[in-house]
Amino acid sequence: MTKTIFITGASSGIGKATAKFFHEKGWNVIATMRNPEKETELTQLKNVTLLPLDVTDFEQIRSVVAEATSLGKVDVVLNNAGYGTVGALEGTTDQQIEQVINTNLLGVIKLTKEFIPHFRKNKEGVFITISSIGGLVAYPFFSLYHATKWAIEGWTESLAFELGQLGIQVKTVQPGPTKTDFVGRSLVVPEHPAYDEFFEGFKKMFFSDEVINGLEPPETVSEVIYEAATDGKNRLRYVVGAAANNEYNRRLELGAEIFHQEWDTVFFGK
Ligand SMILES: NC(=O)c1ccc[n+]([C@@H]2O[C@H](COP(=O)([O-])OP(=O)(O)OC[C@H]3O[C@@H](n4cnc5c(N)ncnc54)[C@H](OP(=O)(O)O)[C@@H]3O)[C@@H](O)[C@H]2O)c1
Repeated sequence: MTKTIFITGASSGIGKATAKFFHEKGWNVIATMRNPEKETELTQLKNVTLLPLDVTDFEQIRSVVAEATSLGKVDVVLNNAGYGTVGALEGTTDQQIEQVINTNLLGVIKLTKEFIPHFRKNKEGVFITISSIGGLVAYPFFSLYHATKWAIEGWTESLAFELGQLGIQVKTVQPGPTKTDFVGRSLVVPEHPAYDEFFEGFKKMFFSDEVINGLEPPETVSEVIYEAATDGKNRLRYVVGAAANNEYNRRLELGAEIFHQEWDTVFFGK
């Protein structure tokens, strides 16, 4: 039987690439996005259904899950919608703090909760959340983004026990730097003059030509999502690409304290 994946944030980047990837593999795709009326590419594809969803609109989560499950069995839910903030916490507004937590964390938790009865009834299903290498290691000026992605990691680890008993898999995928709209459109950059010098140095290193030229294409992430969706394994994490794997392995080998001290030296010469 043809399988179905439900995707959030399918208007661009990893979400859109994954909608196309699963479509090419013969799946039904329910591609959700804030403004489906603006979409022109996915609308051309057979067996791709567009539905409106802003993951911070918790009423809309309820209605879209009801609508999606009324269309038939959903096999995989991909929590992809998300964005980053980079800059000093002191320069961040309350609205910026709440929006990123509502999107990257509460949106994921509420959408997942809403789908559980459907998966429980089917005695199967896979929840996959796009975390980040930033869910496993931490860098300066990304504190809010890390707060959301590290929270996703702990939440997933716990939920995987609880839902595993019911035949439901709960997994995360950790992309490294990926060529999407993330750095352009999906990055909120709060500023504060007290941090200008550090922040300028950080930006030169973090957004250097070398980093930008080495970005992985989003299709690389889609392949790993497909593996997570179909391998049937009781496995929590799928780290994508050499850069992210090297970083994660280095943290595991060095331990959290030494890893942190090393980055302190790299960034601030301590
Ligand atoms: N690119 C990277 O280097 C990288 C690395 C690690 C992890 N990630 C993660 O990958 C995921 C996808 O990001 P991307 O790189 O593909 O960036 P992207 O191209 O900017 O895509 C972000 C998507 O999230 C959607 N979105 C944002 N807020 C939303 C909301 N409230 N409700 C519904 N959709 C919303 C955007 O929709 P609109 O079109 O409506 O704005 C867009 O479709 C994110 O969770 C991100 O944290 C990215």
